[in-house]
Amino acid sequence: MVLAVTFIFSGYVKAIDPLGTQYKIQDYLQALGLQSFVPDWLSLLTSIGLAALEFCLGVFILFAIQRRLISKLILAFMSIMTLLTLWLALANPIKDCGCFGDAVHLTNLQTLLKNIILLLCAITTWKWPLRMIRFISKSNQWIAINFTILYILISSIYSLYKLPPFDFRPYHIGANIKKGMEMPAGAKMPRFTTTFTLEKNGKTKDFTLDNYPDSTWKFINSKTVQTEEGYVPPIHDFSIQDIKSGEDITQKVLSDKDYTFLLVSPHLDQADDTNFGDIDQIYEYAQSEHIPFYCLTASDESAIQRWIDLTGAEYSFCTTDETTLKTIIRSNPGLILLKNGTVINKWSHNDLPKGKELNAHINQLEIGKTPINNIPGKILKIILWFILPLFILTLADRIWAWSQWFRKKKRKRKENISTLKKENKMRKKIVAGNWKMNMNLQDGVALAKEINETLKADKPNCGVIICTPFIHLASVAQVLDSEVVGLGAENCADKEKGAYTGEVSAEMVKSTGAQYVILGHSERRQYYNETAETLKDKTLLALKNGLKVIFCCGETLEEREANKQNEVVKAELKDAVFNLTAEEWKNIILAYEPIWAIGTGKTATSDQAEEMLAYIRSIVADKYGKEVAEDTTILYGGSCKASNAQELFSKPDIDGGLIGGASLKAADFKGIIDAWKK
Ligand code: PGA
Repeated sequence: MVLAVTFIFSGYVKAIDPLGTQYKIQDYLQALGLQSFVPDWLSLLTSIGLAALEFCLGVFILFAIQRRLISKLILAFMSIMTLLTLWLALANPIKDCGCFGDAVHLTNLQTLLKNIILLLCAITTWKWPLRMIRFISKSNQWIAINFTILYILISSIYSLYKLPPFDFRPYHIGANIKKGMEMPAGAKMPRFTTTFTLEKNGKTKDFTLDNYPDSTWKFINSKTVQTEEGYVPPIHDFSIQDIKSGEDITQKVLSDKDYTFLLVSPHLDQADDTNFGDIDQIYEYAQSEHIPFYCLTASDESAIQRWIDLTGAEYSFCTTDETTLKTIIRSNPGLILLKNGTVINKWSHNDLPKGKELNAHINQLEIGKTPINNIPGKILKIILWFILPLFILTLADRIWAWSQWFRKKKRKRKENISTLKKENKMRKKIVAGNWKMNMNLQDGVALAKEINETLKADKPNCGVIICTPFIHLASVAQVLDSEVVGLGAENCADKEKGAYTGEVSAEMVKSTGAQYVILGHSERRQYYNETAETLKDKTLLALKNGLKVIFCCGETLEEREANKQNEVVKAELKDAVFNLTAEEWKNIILAYEPIWAIGTGKTATSDQAEEMLAYIRSIVADKYGKEVAEDTTILYGGSCKASNAQELFSKPDIDGGLIGGASLKAADFKGIIDAWKK
């Protein structure tokens, strides 16, 4: 926090005064004897870049963006700065380090102390970067990064084009220059001591005023040094000297009860001349209104002449100290309006009052009045343009992160439930189609092909079987990928082989390539008088021939209405398949199909189906044990379609469906198969 606040503040005050920062950099270069090697554009770019870097590092460390990298960069930055300030404190080449621009002035020793504290903070963050709390998530931090860089660069360029929004210098709007030059009563005066070097009889000796010797000593040299610092007023080197007359007009200008325009240009040869038309118009206006207009510069004669030739300037030129001019206004050239020694207004050359605005006496014009220095308004602007968007971004990011967290938690919970469910249902899930007596050979093969292709392209989450009339089996077997779609018959004979005209044996079914057979379908029981007895034989033959049996059971409507469903189903199973060994049972798939729901469009509710399947599983458990029962796949059949499959399959005991009507169209069938994916 200490690092963040310091970096943000010091970066910002420098960024909004790029010229001031550039002047400071030039001071450093001069102290190092490097000024002539670094062109102005480079020192200005460095000023903007350095301030932006400092500001961005502050914001990034505050938000803990790229924590490891930023803390390393800050440590490197602070190490260099601390070394630099150590040199400043020892050698004192520059009085004010300028680390807070003009906003806060520190002595070199104070700066060194400040930097040591910051260096300790930097070491701490570098050592434990991950202890910093993120305010913004990794995936959204690029927005904050780009926004911060953009904001600070635009702030710098805007301040360069106009003027710094906050003016911390003694020449700010509203400041009285005369007052700034005053020594307050009782202020400590600086002390000076003069040493005189004199000679007598070939011997030289130093004297002060206190022990100055007699006239037999011959004067050689004298040296005056400041021994004690005194109060230095904020403005201590402001003077204006008219170049033409050589006259010092400082007092005249400062004491003028009326207005005075001062065009300020430290160096006219470097001044921007794009807006000289505006300057000339203001000068003409000043002439007509009898307002004095001077150009203050530290330029030499040739530079002044060049400016006159270039712009046609007719105003008087005066000499003022270069540093003072640079301090007065951060624009070259810039214009200030004085009245009675007070700075009434200031303009960058890009923002000068235009000719058409100058249509009355200056007293009546807006430009002649001190604009209100609305500091809260300016701070509000920073809040609106930078802090508020960042705050909104952070808030949105946090809400997003929380929602992600909740979603993840929910997903995890769901996953837990489904793994729990899966653990309960380790048995195979199956969706089996029962074509019944539908489709000629060609249509059947085409449908099988389509189902096969669809499921190869989008692998199912369950076992898929299609059970077809006998005549389809051999051809359909050719078009199915048995890894993806299993094949079954809808029936088989209760005899092994022989003179049973019209019958198809289990062996024959197996020889087509089919792996399954449906036995005990209610339609066979009802219309072809299949009894538990025949079904028992059929099942044994099917198993003997290596077929897996989908064995159906289910009650009629009357039986259900008489609440006899459990009894009926139990009898159907007991008499036909409960004679099997546990080993044989492994090849049995059960299908509960309430007769009243088959082909009627009336589905058993998922609760009714679940209730019955749980019951069936319980009687299987009674017969073969819990473990076998848990491994037995039990399907539901009867008007099962894509729209109700998911609901049915979500029940813990329902392991899939036996599908009649809805298995005759690939899309409908696929819809049911996909219910296992939801
Ligand atoms: P259904 O038939 O899906 O058309 O109701 C089911 C079946 O008899 O297996």
